[in-house]
This record gives sequence, structure tokens and C-alpha cells, in this order.
Amino acid sequence: MKVLVATQKPFAAAAVNGIKDILSAAGHDVVLLEKYPAQEDLVAAAADSEAMIIRSDKVTAEVIAAAPKLKIIVRAGAGYDNVDLAAASERGIVVMNTPGQNSNAVAELAIALMIFMARTQFTPATGSEIAGKRLGVQAFGAVGRLVGAKAKALGMSVSALDPFLKDEQIVAGGAEPVHSIEELYSNSDYLSIHIPALPSTIKSIGYDLISRMPKGATLVNTARKEVIDEEGLEKALEERPDLKYITDVMPDNYAALQEKFGLRVFATPKKMGAQTAEANINAGLAAARQIVDYFATGNTRFQVNK
Ligand code: 3PG
Repeated sequence: MKVLVATQKPFAAAAVNGIKDILSAAGHDVVLLEKYPAQEDLVAAAADSEAMIIRSDKVTAEVIAAAPKLKIIVRAGAGYDNVDLAAASERGIVVMNTPGQNSNAVAELAIALMIFMARTQFTPATGSEIAGKRLGVQAFGAVGRLVGAKAKALGMSVSALDPFLKDEQIVAGGAEPVHSIEELYSNSDYLSIHIPALPSTIKSIGYDLISRMPKGATLVNTARKEVIDEEGLEKALEERPDLKYITDVMPDNYAALQEKFGLRVFATPKKMGAQTAEANINAGLAAARQIVDYFATGNTRFQVNK
């Protein structure tokens, strides 16, 4: 089978080599499309692909329509909001992710962002410490649990909200369960967001929630920019000069935020949460193995469009 590895943001070389080795050993042909300048390049490369490995690359209805032989798409990572699931399902194309494989990298970055903000973006101004502060984790999945565990080890107290988990599961993960989003935001000195971008979560974090946060609080977003209501964020930061926002997913209004709020806001130049060699190897090789397994045995364990 012809497997297209399409990564606008390339994997580390070791991951690319590992992906090639796994797929070639199973008799598949690998085509690599990295750092492509335009979406049309992905559309063109998709033409004769039977399988695809992607990251945040946008597999739109147009890409799917241009790939008549496509049977499987594996998102090497967690969030699959970049894949048009309806268009894939209509064609009977299996879509998978590789849950948990890049979580540690994202969790480490969330902690780093907290400390970066606590230390006034590494300027000489007096900062604060995260030990002794309260961390709220919004969604206690693979990343949220790791952020909670690391924060606890650094002396923070950790609470978590996750409507899909029972209290016992949150307690087993080392956090105190919280039952309303208002309560979570009201009691968190640091709030780390780990929800996916879904119709129900898009723009769900705005003025009401952010302005509930305690004095001096920091909102940390390593999830998706779409979950933030950017106008609401701007209004909350305007009214509350003590609040801060740090994100790995640059807001559309970042220039305006920077101009107005200076060191109280920060966005990484390019989403880098999962950009470690380890995460690339874990997620990339898992994706390759899932494709090999799917063609060999029909295994659909990680399918997300069942
Ligand atoms: C994910 O959903 O797995 C993360 O956001 C990482 O995305 P990336 O592979 O584009 O870095």
C-alpha cells in the first residue's frame, strides 16, 4: 500500500526513520511530504495514497475527495479536530488517533508555561512560586492526569473536573474531584485546559469563567485555541490587571493582547507541546504500527469514527 506521511510540522528524523522501517518491513511504500507551503500540496499528494499519517495537517473533504484509494488516516497524536470525520466516514475511511503517545511532552510543556509565567517570562522582575498554589485541571485525560501528577510533585494542590470520569477515577489519578466548571475556575490559581475542540467546547471558555479566577491567577492553554472565546478573554484581562494567559496555541487576537497586556500574555510561536523527539517517536511509530496492523488483521482498536 502507498502510505503518505504528511507533516506540515515535521517529525524528528529518528521518528521518520522508524516510521519508514516499520512500513517498509511490512511491504508498504512510504511517501514523505513535509513542511509543505500550501494546502494544495496535500491535496495533490493525497491522490494515490491508500493510507495517511498526519499530525495537525488538515484532512478536509477536499483532500478526501482527491484520494479515491484512501482507506485509513492515522492522526499521530490525540486531537483529531483537523480531520473531516463526516467526509471520511461517508467513504468508509477508517480514522484513528494514537492516544497517550505524546501526552508527556504536552504535560511537561504545561508545567513549563506555568513556571515561565510565575517567573514573569524570565525577566528580572520578582516572580512567584508555583509550590503551594492551587492547580485546576480541566479534563482529566492522558495529558490532564500527567499535568496533575507533575504539579503535585512540585508542591501544588490539584483538583480536576471531568464529566466523563467518576470521582473515584479522579481521586485514583491523584486529584480532588470538582463538579462544576464555575467551581474549578473560582478556586484555581493556575487553570490548565485539556479539553478537545468540539462543537460543544468551541468558545466555551470566556469572560464568565475567566473573570471568576482568583486574584493573580494564570490560565494555561495547551489544548486548542478554538476553545477560548477570545473577545471574552480580552475583556477579562482588561478588567482584571492581575490575570494572566499563556498558551501553546496562538490566539487570533494575539497582537492586540500583547500590545494591551505585555508580559501578562504569552503564546509560543508555533504549537510545540508535542514537539519532542520522544513524542514524535512514540506517536509516529504507533501510527505506523496501527496502519500495518489494520491492513494485516483489520484491527480498528483506535478508530475514532466508528
Ligand atoms: C495533539 O492533539 O496530539 C497535539 O495537539 C499535538 O499536535 P501536533 O502533532 O500538531 O504537534
